[in-house]
Amino acid sequence: MQIEVNNLTKKFGKKKALDGLSLSIEEGVYGLLGPNGAGKTTLMCCLLGVYNSNGGSIVVDGKADPKGALLSAHCGYLPQHFDMFHELTVAEALRYFATLKKIPRAKGAEEIGRCLRTVNLEEEAKKRVGALSGGMRRRLGIAQALLGDPPLLIFDEPTAGLDPEERMRFKNIIAAVRHRHTILISTHIVDDIDVICNRVMVIDRGKLCAQGTKGDICRYADGRVFTLPREQEASLNRPYYLENVFEEGGQEHIRILSQIPQPAVARPAAPTLEDGYFALVRGEDL
Ligand SMILES: Nc1ncnc2c1ncn2[C@@H]1O[C@H](COP(=O)(O)OP(=O)(O)O)[C@@H](O)[C@H]1O
Ligand SMILES: [Mg+2]
Repeated sequence: MQIEVNNLTKKFGKKKALDGLSLSIEEGVYGLLGPNGAGKTTLMCCLLGVYNSNGGSIVVDGKADPKGALLSAHCGYLPQHFDMFHELTVAEALRYFATLKKIPRAKGAEEIGRCLRTVNLEEEAKKRVGALSGGMRRRLGIAQALLGDPPLLIFDEPTAGLDPEERMRFKNIIAAVRHRHTILISTHIVDDIDVICNRVMVIDRGKLCAQGTKGDICRYADGRVFTLPREQEASLNRPYYLENVFEEGGQEHIRILSQIPQPAVARPAAPTLEDGYFALVRGEDL
């Protein structure tokens, strides 16, 4: 499935949530990275026809898809705030979704079993949704997205609020299904997509800042990353962006991004995906 988004604009009143955004999606696992308010959810809602856009186009396999009819018919979607009737059991909830997706009843039980196994919720099939932990409920959300085996999966902030064990489970689920689907995952947490995505799109303020492999994104921070003991921070040349504080050899160190020369105490470091991301979305502070 090939998706071309051209110059997409979406306004809420005067606010442009998407401001002439263009990107393309083919095969693989795509990470849609951007700070809160960047337009990630709005983009996903426009792709699926939940929102009508105010301009631009979405083209799917060469055909215009202005109302999201083509994509929504071939997509499993996990919304940012997924929940389900608490009174239903997990199996009943999935049967409900299977009906909405028009999966024939004869095939439904087998398909629900497959999706429960994929997300490791088989043992919870008879539990009520209201009795599930937050992480389990998110996995139920992933299971309903997988129902019917759609070619495209769109997951909006699937790891937000999950504990480390559930995050790891999520990565394992993606690893298990990545060969069956093209997957678009939004997040503002770089770590969560570093190992699972092979393509990254960085968006900010409704615009695409960069699109490419993880290596491509890292290169936006080439020659700009430095580490130094925190106590030497006063010797830095301004401006710089303080990324984080870490401990090394029992001493607090800082990692900074800067485009200007820095004193020798600031040691150059190889850029990571997170460095590239910050260089793109914080670049104007530098
Ligand atoms: N329904 C809405 N009404 C008004 N403003 C909205 C609405 N949805 C989103 N926005 C605004 O559009 C921008 C992008 O929001 P959103 O797509 O939710 O960002 P993200 O998912 O990247 O955090 C934000 O400034 C947000 O406040
Ligand atoms: Mg969002």
